[in-house]
Amino acid sequence: MNELAAVREEALGKVAEAEDLATLEALRVAYLGKKGALTGVLKSLGKLPPEERPAAGAAVNAAKEEVQAALEARREALQGAALEAQLAAEAVDITLPGRQGSRGGRHPHAVTMARIVEIFRQAGYAVASGPEVESDYYNFEALNIPAHHPARAMHDTFYLEGREEQAAGDPRWPRLLRTHTSPVQARIMENTQPPIRIICPGKVYRVDSDVTHTPMFHQVEGLVVGEGISMAHLKGTVIEFLRVFFNADDLAVRFRPSYFPFTEPSAEVDVECVHCRGDGCRVCSHTGWLEVMGCGVVHPNVLEMSGIDSERFSGFAFGFGPDRLSMLYYGVDDLRLFYENDLRFLAQFA
Ligand code: DAH
Repeated sequence: MNELAAVREEALGKVAEAEDLATLEALRVAYLGKKGALTGVLKSLGKLPPEERPAAGAAVNAAKEEVQAALEARREALQGAALEAQLAAEAVDITLPGRQGSRGGRHPHAVTMARIVEIFRQAGYAVASGPEVESDYYNFEALNIPAHHPARAMHDTFYLEGREEQAAGDPRWPRLLRTHTSPVQARIMENTQPPIRIICPGKVYRVDSDVTHTPMFHQVEGLVVGEGISMAHLKGTVIEFLRVFFNADDLAVRFRPSYFPFTEPSAEVDVECVHCRGDGCRVCSHTGWLEVMGCGVVHPNVLEMSGIDSERFSGFAFGFGPDRLSMLYYGVDDLRLFYENDLRFLAQFA
Protein backbone atom coordinates (compact mmCIF):
# COMPACT_ATOMS: atom_id res chain seq x y z
CA MET A 1 0.00 0.00 0.00
CA ASN A 2 2.88 2.30 0.73
CA GLU A 3 4.46 1.48 -2.59
CA LEU A 4 1.13 2.06 -4.36
CA ALA A 5 0.72 5.44 -2.69
CA ALA A 6 4.25 6.46 -3.70
CA VAL A 7 3.81 5.39 -7.35
CA ARG A 8 0.40 7.09 -7.54
CA GLU A 9 1.82 10.29 -6.05
CA GLU A 10 4.76 10.26 -8.44
CA ALA A 11 2.58 9.58 -11.49
CA LEU A 12 0.09 12.34 -10.71
CA GLY A 13 2.93 14.79 -10.06
CA LYS A 14 4.65 14.05 -13.35
CA VAL A 15 1.38 14.21 -15.31
CA ALA A 16 0.64 17.61 -13.82
CA GLU A 17 4.07 18.86 -14.90
CA ALA A 18 4.01 17.40 -18.42
CA GLU A 19 4.35 20.19 -21.01
CA ASP A 20 3.60 18.30 -24.20
CA LEU A 21 1.70 15.34 -25.63
CA ALA A 22 4.81 13.24 -26.24
CA THR A 23 5.74 13.44 -22.56
CA LEU A 24 2.19 12.45 -21.61
CA GLU A 25 2.34 9.40 -23.85
CA ALA A 26 5.67 8.38 -22.31
CA LEU A 27 4.11 8.71 -18.84
CA ARG A 28 1.12 6.59 -19.85
CA VAL A 29 3.46 3.82 -20.98
CA ALA A 30 5.63 4.20 -17.88
CA TYR A 31 2.73 3.83 -15.42
CA LEU A 32 -0.17 2.16 -17.19
CA GLY A 33 1.57 0.17 -19.94
CA LYS A 34 2.08 -3.61 -19.83
CA LYS A 35 5.39 -3.13 -18.08
CA GLY A 36 4.29 0.05 -16.34
CA ALA A 37 4.80 0.78 -12.66
CA LEU A 38 1.11 0.52 -11.65
CA THR A 39 0.66 -2.61 -13.73
CA GLY A 40 3.65 -3.98 -11.81
CA VAL A 41 1.98 -3.23 -8.51
CA LEU A 42 -1.15 -5.02 -9.71
CA LYS A 43 0.88 -8.10 -10.70
CA SER A 44 2.51 -8.17 -7.28
CA LEU A 45 -0.91 -8.59 -5.60
CA GLY A 46 -0.59 -12.36 -6.07
CA LYS A 47 1.98 -12.35 -3.28
CA LEU A 48 -0.57 -11.00 -0.75
CA PRO A 49 -2.65 -13.18 1.53
CA PRO A 50 -5.98 -13.96 -0.20
CA GLU A 51 -8.09 -11.98 2.28
CA GLU A 52 -6.12 -8.78 1.53
CA ARG A 53 -6.28 -9.12 -2.24
CA PRO A 54 -9.77 -7.65 -2.95
CA ALA A 55 -9.14 -4.43 -1.05
CA ALA A 56 -5.64 -4.04 -2.48
CA GLY A 57 -6.90 -4.80 -6.01
CA ALA A 58 -9.60 -2.19 -5.68
CA ALA A 59 -7.05 0.36 -4.44
CA VAL A 60 -4.69 -0.31 -7.37
CA ASN A 61 -7.52 -0.07 -9.88
CA ALA A 62 -8.69 3.17 -8.29
CA ALA A 63 -5.16 4.51 -8.56
CA LYS A 64 -4.94 3.43 -12.23
CA GLU A 65 -8.22 5.13 -13.02
CA GLU A 66 -7.10 8.22 -11.23
CA VAL A 67 -3.86 8.37 -13.22
CA GLN A 68 -5.76 7.59 -16.42
CA ALA A 69 -8.18 10.46 -15.72
CA ALA A 70 -5.31 12.80 -14.87
CA LEU A 71 -3.60 11.89 -18.17
CA GLU A 72 -6.76 12.62 -20.13
CA ALA A 73 -7.42 15.89 -18.34
CA ARG A 74 -3.85 16.98 -18.94
CA ARG A 75 -4.06 15.96 -22.59
CA GLU A 76 -7.20 18.03 -23.05
CA ALA A 77 -5.61 20.99 -21.31
CA LEU A 78 -2.48 20.80 -23.49
CA GLN A 79 -4.50 20.40 -26.69
CA GLY A 80 -6.74 23.30 -25.69
CA ALA A 81 -3.73 25.50 -24.98
CA ALA A 82 -2.14 24.53 -28.33
CA LEU A 83 -5.37 25.43 -30.14
CA GLU A 84 -5.58 28.76 -28.31
CA ALA A 85 -1.99 29.56 -29.27
CA GLN A 86 -2.64 28.63 -32.90
CA LEU A 87 -5.80 30.74 -33.04
CA ALA A 88 -4.00 33.68 -31.49
CA ALA A 89 -1.14 33.35 -33.99
CA GLU A 90 -3.45 33.07 -36.98
CA ALA A 91 -5.89 35.72 -35.85
CA VAL A 92 -7.25 37.99 -38.61
CA ASP A 93 -8.57 41.38 -37.62
CA ILE A 94 -11.66 41.53 -39.77
CA THR A 95 -12.31 45.10 -38.67
CA LEU A 96 -9.16 46.37 -40.49
CA PRO A 97 -9.93 48.32 -43.67
CA GLY A 98 -9.30 46.30 -46.86
CA ARG A 99 -6.34 47.01 -49.12
CA GLN A 100 -7.41 49.12 -52.07
CA GLY A 101 -6.19 48.08 -55.50
CA SER A 102 -5.05 51.20 -57.28
CA ARG A 103 -7.14 52.05 -60.30
CA GLY A 104 -5.52 53.47 -63.40
CA GLY A 105 -6.58 56.78 -64.77
CA ARG A 106 -6.66 58.40 -68.15
CA HIS A 107 -3.69 60.50 -69.24
CA PRO A 108 -4.41 64.25 -69.08
CA HIS A 109 -3.83 64.56 -72.83
CA ALA A 110 -6.40 61.81 -73.41
CA VAL A 111 -8.88 63.56 -71.12
CA THR A 112 -8.36 66.82 -73.03
CA MET A 113 -8.73 65.07 -76.39
CA ALA A 114 -11.99 63.47 -75.23
CA ARG A 115 -13.31 66.86 -74.07
CA ILE A 116 -12.44 68.45 -77.41
CA VAL A 117 -14.10 65.67 -79.38
CA GLU A 118 -17.19 65.95 -77.20
CA ILE A 119 -17.47 69.71 -77.70
CA PHE A 120 -17.38 69.31 -81.50
CA ARG A 121 -19.59 66.23 -81.43
CA GLN A 122 -22.28 68.29 -79.73
CA ALA A 123 -21.94 70.85 -82.51
CA GLY A 124 -22.68 68.14 -85.09
CA TYR A 125 -19.16 67.26 -86.23
CA ALA A 126 -18.24 63.71 -87.23
CA VAL A 127 -14.87 62.28 -86.21
CA ALA A 128 -12.58 61.27 -89.08
CA SER A 129 -9.14 59.68 -89.17
CA GLY A 130 -6.36 59.00 -91.60
CA PRO A 131 -3.06 57.10 -91.70
CA GLU A 132 0.00 58.24 -89.77
CA VAL A 133 2.25 56.87 -92.50
CA GLU A 134 1.18 59.21 -95.27
CA SER A 135 2.18 59.88 -98.83
CA ASP A 136 3.87 63.05 -99.97
CA TYR A 137 0.77 63.71 -102.05
CA TYR A 138 -1.72 63.99 -99.19
CA ASN A 139 0.67 65.55 -96.70
CA PHE A 140 1.79 68.28 -99.13
CA GLU A 141 0.67 68.25 -102.78
CA ALA A 142 -3.07 67.99 -102.17
CA LEU A 143 -2.78 70.85 -99.68
CA ASN A 144 -1.37 73.21 -102.26
CA ILE A 145 2.21 72.69 -101.06
CA PRO A 146 4.07 71.55 -104.21
CA ALA A 147 7.68 70.34 -104.14
CA HIS A 148 10.11 73.15 -103.33
CA HIS A 149 7.34 75.24 -101.78
CA PRO A 150 8.98 77.17 -98.92
CA ALA A 151 6.26 75.99 -96.50
CA ARG A 152 7.84 72.52 -96.62
CA ALA A 153 10.78 73.91 -94.69
CA MET A 154 8.51 74.47 -91.67
CA HIS A 155 7.68 70.76 -91.58
CA ASP A 156 10.83 68.90 -90.56
CA THR A 157 9.66 65.66 -92.04
CA PHE A 158 10.50 62.04 -91.21
CA TYR A 159 10.73 60.24 -94.56
CA LEU A 160 10.50 56.48 -94.96
CA GLU A 161 13.01 54.60 -97.07
CA GLY A 162 11.80 53.49 -100.47
CA ARG A 163 14.14 54.85 -103.11
CA GLU A 164 13.39 52.12 -105.62
CA GLU A 165 9.64 52.70 -105.50
CA GLN A 166 10.22 56.42 -105.81
CA ALA A 167 12.54 55.93 -108.75
CA ALA A 168 9.90 53.72 -110.38
CA GLY A 169 7.51 56.63 -110.18
CA ASP A 170 5.10 54.90 -107.79
CA PRO A 171 2.67 57.72 -106.84
CA ARG A 172 2.35 56.44 -103.27
CA TRP A 173 5.98 57.46 -102.71
CA PRO A 174 7.76 59.14 -101.07
CA ARG A 175 6.21 57.94 -97.84
CA LEU A 176 6.53 59.95 -94.67
CA LEU A 177 5.14 60.30 -91.16
CA ARG A 178 2.43 62.92 -91.49
CA THR A 179 3.60 66.27 -90.18
CA HIS A 180 0.05 67.50 -89.55
CA THR A 181 -3.53 66.21 -89.62
CA SER A 182 -4.39 68.38 -92.63
CA PRO A 183 -3.96 65.47 -95.12
CA VAL A 184 -7.17 64.02 -93.68
CA GLN A 185 -8.99 67.04 -95.20
CA ALA A 186 -7.96 65.95 -98.69
CA ARG A 187 -8.78 62.30 -98.04
CA ILE A 188 -12.26 63.16 -96.77
CA MET A 189 -13.05 65.57 -99.61
CA GLU A 190 -11.96 63.00 -102.19
CA ASN A 191 -14.70 60.62 -101.18
CA THR A 192 -17.40 62.82 -99.62
CA GLN A 193 -19.48 65.51 -101.25
CA PRO A 194 -20.54 68.51 -99.12
CA PRO A 195 -21.95 69.20 -96.66
CA ILE A 196 -18.86 68.12 -94.72
CA ARG A 197 -18.35 68.80 -91.06
CA ILE A 198 -15.54 66.82 -89.44
CA ILE A 199 -12.79 66.96 -86.92
CA CYS A 200 -9.77 64.70 -87.05
CA PRO A 201 -7.84 64.17 -83.83
CA GLY A 202 -4.57 62.32 -84.24
CA LYS A 203 -0.83 61.92 -83.87
CA VAL A 204 1.63 63.85 -86.01
CA TYR A 205 5.44 63.71 -86.25
CA ARG A 206 8.22 66.19 -86.80
CA VAL A 207 12.00 65.99 -86.55
CA ASP A 208 12.06 68.10 -83.47
CA SER A 209 13.02 67.33 -79.89
CA ASP A 210 13.82 69.89 -77.25
CA VAL A 211 12.32 71.45 -74.14
CA THR A 212 9.22 72.65 -75.96
CA HIS A 213 8.95 69.99 -78.71
CA THR A 214 8.50 66.23 -78.83
CA PRO A 215 8.97 64.30 -82.10
CA MET A 216 5.39 63.04 -81.78
CA PHE A 217 2.56 65.30 -80.73
CA HIS A 218 -1.15 65.62 -81.35
CA GLN A 219 -3.27 67.79 -83.57
CA VAL A 220 -6.95 68.27 -84.11
CA GLU A 221 -8.01 69.23 -87.60
CA GLY A 222 -11.38 70.72 -88.40
CA LEU A 223 -13.04 71.01 -91.80
CA VAL A 224 -16.42 72.39 -92.81
CA VAL A 225 -17.45 72.54 -96.47
CA GLY A 226 -20.82 73.61 -97.82
CA GLU A 227 -22.65 76.31 -99.73
CA GLY A 228 -22.02 79.81 -98.46
CA ILE A 229 -19.48 78.87 -95.78
CA SER A 230 -17.43 81.95 -94.89
CA MET A 231 -14.79 83.38 -92.59
CA ALA A 232 -17.64 84.51 -90.32
CA HIS A 233 -18.63 80.89 -89.65
CA LEU A 234 -15.01 80.08 -88.92
CA LYS A 235 -14.68 82.90 -86.41
CA GLY A 236 -17.91 82.04 -84.63
CA THR A 237 -16.98 78.37 -84.41
CA VAL A 238 -13.44 78.93 -83.16
CA ILE A 239 -14.42 81.55 -80.58
CA GLU A 240 -17.24 79.42 -79.24
CA PHE A 241 -15.03 76.33 -79.06
CA LEU A 242 -12.27 78.13 -77.14
CA ARG A 243 -14.71 79.67 -74.66
CA VAL A 244 -16.36 76.33 -73.97
CA PHE A 245 -12.99 74.57 -73.71
CA PHE A 246 -11.58 77.05 -71.19
CA ASN A 247 -14.92 77.44 -69.34
CA ALA A 248 -14.75 81.21 -69.84
CA ASP A 249 -17.70 82.91 -71.54
CA ASP A 250 -15.86 86.20 -71.87
CA LEU A 251 -12.44 84.84 -72.94
CA ALA A 252 -10.90 87.31 -75.39
CA VAL A 253 -9.96 85.74 -78.75
CA ARG A 254 -8.20 87.49 -81.62
CA PHE A 255 -7.47 86.55 -85.22
CA ARG A 256 -4.15 87.64 -86.72
CA PRO A 257 -3.66 87.55 -90.49
CA SER A 258 -1.27 84.73 -91.38
CA TYR A 259 -0.36 82.44 -94.22
CA PHE A 260 -1.00 78.76 -94.93
CA PRO A 261 -0.81 77.38 -98.47
CA PHE A 262 -4.11 75.52 -98.05
CA THR A 263 -6.22 78.45 -96.84
CA GLU A 264 -6.93 81.91 -98.17
CA PRO A 265 -7.37 84.09 -96.24
CA SER A 266 -5.48 82.51 -93.33
CA ALA A 267 -5.30 83.48 -89.71
CA GLU A 268 -3.64 82.52 -86.49
CA VAL A 269 -5.76 82.57 -83.37
CA ASP A 270 -4.66 83.92 -80.01
CA VAL A 271 -6.54 83.67 -76.72
CA GLU A 272 -6.13 86.04 -73.83
CA CYS A 273 -3.53 84.41 -71.54
CA VAL A 274 -5.53 82.01 -69.39
CA HIS A 275 -2.89 82.29 -66.68
CA CYS A 276 -2.78 86.07 -66.13
CA ARG A 277 -5.99 86.96 -67.99
CA GLY A 278 -4.09 89.31 -70.25
CA ASP A 279 -1.93 91.22 -67.78
CA GLY A 280 1.29 89.66 -69.01
CA CYS A 281 3.21 86.85 -67.32
CA ARG A 282 5.87 84.19 -67.93
CA VAL A 283 3.39 81.82 -69.61
CA CYS A 284 2.50 84.37 -72.32
CA SER A 285 6.00 85.89 -72.52
CA HIS A 286 4.49 89.11 -71.16
CA THR A 287 2.34 89.65 -74.24
CA GLY A 288 -1.00 88.84 -72.59
CA TRP A 289 -1.83 86.51 -75.51
CA LEU A 290 -1.31 82.82 -76.33
CA GLU A 291 -1.25 81.48 -79.87
CA VAL A 292 -3.47 78.41 -80.06
CA MET A 293 -4.35 77.57 -83.66
CA GLY A 294 -4.08 78.12 -87.39
CA CYS A 295 -7.13 78.42 -89.61
CA GLY A 296 -8.59 79.94 -92.73
CA VAL A 297 -10.96 79.66 -95.65
CA VAL A 298 -10.12 76.56 -97.69
CA HIS A 299 -8.10 77.48 -100.76
CA PRO A 300 -10.03 76.82 -104.02
CA ASN A 301 -7.06 74.81 -105.33
CA VAL A 302 -7.43 72.41 -102.42
CA LEU A 303 -11.17 71.94 -103.06
CA GLU A 304 -10.60 71.38 -106.79
CA MET A 305 -7.71 68.94 -106.34
CA SER A 306 -9.98 66.78 -104.17
CA GLY A 307 -12.88 66.92 -106.63
CA ILE A 308 -15.09 69.59 -105.06
CA ASP A 309 -16.59 72.37 -107.18
CA SER A 310 -15.06 75.56 -105.79
CA GLU A 311 -17.58 77.72 -107.65
CA ARG A 312 -20.44 76.17 -105.74
CA PHE A 313 -18.86 75.21 -102.41
CA SER A 314 -16.59 76.88 -99.94
CA GLY A 315 -15.23 75.86 -96.59
CA PHE A 316 -13.17 76.67 -93.59
CA ALA A 317 -10.51 74.68 -91.80
CA PHE A 318 -8.54 74.89 -88.62
CA GLY A 319 -5.79 72.97 -86.91
CA PHE A 320 -4.47 73.12 -83.39
CA GLY A 321 -2.37 71.30 -80.84
CA PRO A 322 -4.50 69.79 -78.06
CA ASP A 323 -1.36 69.04 -76.04
CA ARG A 324 -0.74 72.75 -75.72
CA LEU A 325 -4.38 73.40 -74.84
CA SER A 326 -4.06 70.66 -72.21
CA MET A 327 -1.05 72.39 -70.66
CA LEU A 328 -2.81 75.74 -70.61
CA TYR A 329 -6.00 74.27 -69.22
CA TYR A 330 -4.24 72.43 -66.39
CA GLY A 331 -1.64 75.14 -65.80
CA VAL A 332 1.32 72.79 -66.43
CA ASP A 333 4.29 74.62 -67.93
CA ASP A 334 6.70 71.80 -68.74
CA LEU A 335 5.84 69.62 -71.72
CA ARG A 336 8.14 66.83 -70.58
CA LEU A 337 6.02 66.09 -67.49
CA PHE A 338 3.33 64.64 -69.73
CA TYR A 339 5.68 62.04 -71.19
CA GLU A 340 7.74 60.99 -68.17
CA ASN A 341 4.87 58.91 -66.78
CA ASP A 342 5.61 59.78 -63.17
CA LEU A 343 2.54 58.47 -61.37
CA ARG A 344 2.68 61.28 -58.81
CA PHE A 345 2.09 63.71 -61.66
CA LEU A 346 -0.43 61.62 -63.58
CA ALA A 347 -2.50 60.64 -60.54
CA GLN A 348 -3.54 64.26 -60.08
CA PHE A 349 -5.64 64.06 -63.24
CA ALA A 350 -7.24 60.63 -62.74
N1 DAH B 1 -1.59 72.15 -90.60
C1 DAH B 1 -1.15 73.34 -89.92
C2 DAH B 1 0.09 73.01 -89.09
O1 DAH B 1 0.33 71.88 -88.83
C3 DAH B 1 -2.20 73.86 -89.00
C4 DAH B 1 -3.37 74.39 -89.76
C5 DAH B 1 -3.41 75.71 -90.14
C6 DAH B 1 -4.43 73.56 -90.09
C7 DAH B 1 -4.48 76.22 -90.84
C8 DAH B 1 -5.50 74.06 -90.82
C9 DAH B 1 -5.50 75.40 -91.19
O2 DAH B 1 -6.53 73.31 -91.16
O3 DAH B 1 -6.56 75.89 -91.88
O4 DAH B 1 0.81 73.89 -88.71
